[in-house]
Amino acid sequence: MDKTSLKKLIDDDQSNAKNTIPPYLEETYWWAYLHPRGIRIFERQWLVNFILWGNYRRLREAALSEIDSHFQGNMLQLACVYGDLTEKLASKLSIKGQLDLVDISQAQLENAQSKLGQRQNINLIQQDTSSLNLPDNAYDATMLFFLMHEQPENVRLSTLAEAIRVTRKGGKIIIVDYHRAAGWNPLRYVMKGVFRWLEPFAEDFISSEVSDTLPIDKITRIKKQVYFGGLYQKVIINC
Ligand SMILES: C[S@@+](CC[C@H](N)C(=O)[O-])C[C@H]1O[C@@H](n2cnc3c(N)ncnc32)[C@H](O)[C@@H]1O
Repeated sequence: MDKTSLKKLIDDDQSNAKNTIPPYLEETYWWAYLHPRGIRIFERQWLVNFILWGNYRRLREAALSEIDSHFQGNMLQLACVYGDLTEKLASKLSIKGQLDLVDISQAQLENAQSKLGQRQNINLIQQDTSSLNLPDNAYDATMLFFLMHEQPENVRLSTLAEAIRVTRKGGKIIIVDYHRAAGWNPLRYVMKGVFRWLEPFAEDFISSEVSDTLPIDKITRIKKQVYFGGLYQKVIINC
């Protein structure tokens, strides 16, 4: 699908989009993603790097390495992230490429806009990732960076199904997120405490493989790589 037709379809669909903040986000993560003060505090790359035990750059590069330089197709990023991942993704676009960034939070989209500046080939779209008002098979690459562990199971599975629906045959889905750390990794126990305290859906997410929760149609290949003693994973799903 060329980028002008995709943009028109997205604009037409916006009027139907469901854009109320889901209760889990409001209740669990308001302080990190919705409150302006939270956004001001967390929008610091050193802090994100600290939260990821010094692995931000490595994980960002692992995600970016899946996207060709001078990318000519349509790329979708599901949910905004702190740090410069989205700017780096955008810098991979050729003049023909397009990046659509979806988030349910207006404040997050405004924050992303302030980092990205005005660019013709980037669309910021306020939608829920679990019920996207975006066309089937429209994207060549879909990225989810540390989104899945923050969603309750039903939302997570719907988000995954939506990512598969909107990614075209021959395209890929790139997931970077937490993973169950190896038994020898001492951070396993620290992270258990962190998850219990701050990330109530993360334990459930890492208790199964992404590949076990996928619908089987449309998927041609799944590849997983783990990092930092298994604490993080990259999963590539080829459609
Ligand atoms: C990608 S996740 C976590 C990213 C990671 N902690 C970081 O900042 O690097 C955070 C984003 O997901 C968004 N989000 C969470 N659930 C969502 C949903 N159902 N639909 C759209 N956006 C959602 C939040 O608004 C927030 O901007």
